[in-house]
Amino acid sequence: MALLLRNGRVLDPASRVDAVQDVLVEGGTITRLGPTLAAPAEARVLDVTRKVVCPGFIDMHVHLREPGYEYKETVATGTRAAAAGGFAAVCCMANTHPVNDNRSITDYILAKARSEGVVRVYPIGAVTRGLRGEELAELAELAEAGCVGYSDDGQCVMNARLYRRAMEYTLPFGLPVISHAEDHHLSHGAAMNEGVVSMETGLAGAPPAAEDVMVARDIILAELTGAHVHIAHLSTAGAVRLVRDAKARGVKVTAEVTPHHLVLTEEAVRHYDPNTKMSPPLRTKRDAQALLEALADGTIDCVATDHAPHALAEKEGEYDAAAWGIVGLETAVALLLDRLVRPGLLGLDTLVARLSTDPARLLHLPGGSLAPGAPADITVLDPGLEHTIDPARFRSRSRNTPFGGWTVTGAPVMTIVGGTVVHPESAP
Ligand code: DOR
Repeated sequence: MALLLRNGRVLDPASRVDAVQDVLVEGGTITRLGPTLAAPAEARVLDVTRKVVCPGFIDMHVHLREPGYEYKETVATGTRAAAAGGFAAVCCMANTHPVNDNRSITDYILAKARSEGVVRVYPIGAVTRGLRGEELAELAELAEAGCVGYSDDGQCVMNARLYRRAMEYTLPFGLPVISHAEDHHLSHGAAMNEGVVSMETGLAGAPPAAEDVMVARDIILAELTGAHVHIAHLSTAGAVRLVRDAKARGVKVTAEVTPHHLVLTEEAVRHYDPNTKMSPPLRTKRDAQALLEALADGTIDCVATDHAPHALAEKEGEYDAAAWGIVGLETAVALLLDRLVRPGLLGLDTLVARLSTDPARLLHLPGGSLAPGAPADITVLDPGLEHTIDPARFRSRSRNTPFGGWTVTGAPVMTIVGGTVVHPESAP
């Protein structure tokens, strides 16, 4: 059925459009943009006055946990969480059980996505077998099966020789190697960032250098091999500097930042809430400031949530023993609108680009544009909608967030995938 989005502020960084317009969707594709379009017979007309119509958001760093950890999340629950959070597509990391290191697992995830998912799902294959860092995974087979990148996320590939081989091997496929940049020797035993707060709380800290040395290594290997290396969840001012310098030299390096590293600092750990424990850990205000500047100037290419669902039992009790990570799909967009866009720290157009056009470009994915002919993946925002984050209402199977009870202004209110409204489920 045709769909007409009437009278919204159409914001499409890919085609440099920012104007109040109508958007017509036919056969799953955007067919026309313009002021007061005539609605075809039978078209469903949705009034989006005072809302912002954007290319569907793409979260390139999500843990859907299936197969193996269905008690934390599934393709069905994770993609519903994505839709509710304004994401029309997610890339899912390989640290499932079994690990997504061969075609059968990729096929399984894609089959689940077809039968139970409500947004597009793009699997990321493992770099090494079983994420053990010892031998390469079936890299060619993973590309053939439909993986859009490679990562041992959650683990750093510590063996530089093996990582170099992975980069060389993946070059012909044109898919990025995505780095979880952490020197596990430097971060050994840590539960948070090393600094004043770790000293005062008595928690063991990992120095920012644990990230910086691996970002430096990965840039050097990208330069050596000519491969595209993407740094996941960049969190330190030092790593920002390294990526900025490397980009200036023409190295094929890109990077992402999470909402939590932008809006929280290590100060949040003082209350020992395990929902402030994630890898990489929350850093200092200076780091968060450097990340924001890098996101604004394009040194950091995109925002990704690192949605990392864990069961309650894994996130209560002692801070040291708690699992790493927080859910992010259902809080990311609202937090970024409220904390960065509303106070004028980041332009709405830049945020929309970093959530749609830029991840599509990085991973060569369809979408990221509202130009006629593009797939009708659309995210609609209400920048003025005030609400309180209530984890009890999450579609995700997990609730591990430090943002429960935060009142924020601005929210994703509609998600459209291939011309179908997938959120809200009962759209008018
Ligand atoms: O906090 C994190 N949790 N960081 C990671 O890199 C992995 C993730 C997970 O899988 O739980």
